[in-house]
Amino acid sequence: MARGRKAVELWDRPPHTAAKHQLLQEYLGAWFPILAKYNRRLFYYDAFAGPGRYKSGDDGSPLIALKTLIEHDYFTSMPRTEFVFLFNEQDPGCAEHLEGLIDELKATNKPWPANVRVGVTNNTFIELTTDLLDDLDSRAAKLAPTFAFVDPVGVKATPMAVLRRLTDFPKGELLVYFAHEAVFRFCGAGNIDQALTDLFGTEEYKDAGLLTGSQRSQYIHDLYKRQLHEVCNFPYIQSFAMYDHRGKRLYDLFYCTREPIGLDRMKGAMWKIAPSGDFSFRDRFANQDVIFGAEVDTTPLQSHLLTHFSGQAVTIEAIVDHVIVATPYASGHVKRATLAVMQRSGLISSPNQKRKGTFTDGTIVIFP
Ligand SMILES: C[S@@+](CC[C@H](N)C(=O)[O-])C[C@H]1O[C@@H](n2cnc3c(N)ncnc32)[C@H](O)[C@@H]1O
Repeated sequence: MARGRKAVELWDRPPHTAAKHQLLQEYLGAWFPILAKYNRRLFYYDAFAGPGRYKSGDDGSPLIALKTLIEHDYFTSMPRTEFVFLFNEQDPGCAEHLEGLIDELKATNKPWPANVRVGVTNNTFIELTTDLLDDLDSRAAKLAPTFAFVDPVGVKATPMAVLRRLTDFPKGELLVYFAHEAVFRFCGAGNIDQALTDLFGTEEYKDAGLLTGSQRSQYIHDLYKRQLHEVCNFPYIQSFAMYDHRGKRLYDLFYCTREPIGLDRMKGAMWKIAPSGDFSFRDRFANQDVIFGAEVDTTPLQSHLLTHFSGQAVTIEAIVDHVIVATPYASGHVKRATLAVMQRSGLISSPNQKRKGTFTDGTIVIFP
């Protein structure tokens, strides 16, 4: 691609986009070192990369991902893993702008680490992904463990069938944008049915047109989630809703994985952004520090554990595993904020605890 930064019209970064970036950054801060431990190559694919910067001067998702890695406290302890970043952007001006920013980043980080490879492509998501996978298929090769960030605008560019192919590898993970507002509006209109059928990989979305309000909203969310489960074979999915300043639900992000540890780290990131536990962000409440400082309410988790493990003696490891995959909470909520509180209230006990209120590996918890 030609060098030299072409003038592109950068756009604003509303608070919900900043929240999306915070999620990405938090999660990748965990994903890179965890995966690098056991894999010699990782693939980070930002399929709708954008120009790399916002009008405000804030970084876009490609720069956020790169900086999260090269500025990571553990980066120097991951020299044996090759990190391959592929940033794709359909608009030639945006792609060129992004490439210029990456060149600048490399120039200010000399020598650029030999184990970090960066490519920028200028194609459509469908075409590039299809070419990439056709090429792998022709060589009977498999994709390295991959985190795919699929962040389009609208409903037309991300068919479920392409997502399925892209993530049909054991360590494939996906963070995908779902155009909630557009689907809500058009699901019963009949004028973009082919795009919606491709998006969902089924025509069942048409039934949503018979519903109204929150029922319709829930239906389209749940159908998309079900399709990610069934078509892409993801056992673990957590969504996060983004609302604009008018209180309109603009889009949902769906994080999809086959690894409980990934689910745990992403839920941890989501709770940081939404401490009330509702897995959503509202532009209206952005900058209200009081929300960010709020304590997590673990009362629902306490009740759930008492019911679920009633009459059993359970190891702390089994409790944590259960919380990660079967509740909205993350591992970080289990010990101090939940079990220690329950023990102080006399709701649980332990026969082998080293110190009251602490739950080191192997601790057995008795639920009455
Ligand atoms: C929401 S923006 C991406 C923002 C970026 N991920 C970030 O967080 O900074 C979507 C980008 O996708 C690009 N785009 C639109 N259609 C595309 C397609 N079919 N394939 C690849 N990129 C596309 C647009 O030009 C736009 O820059």
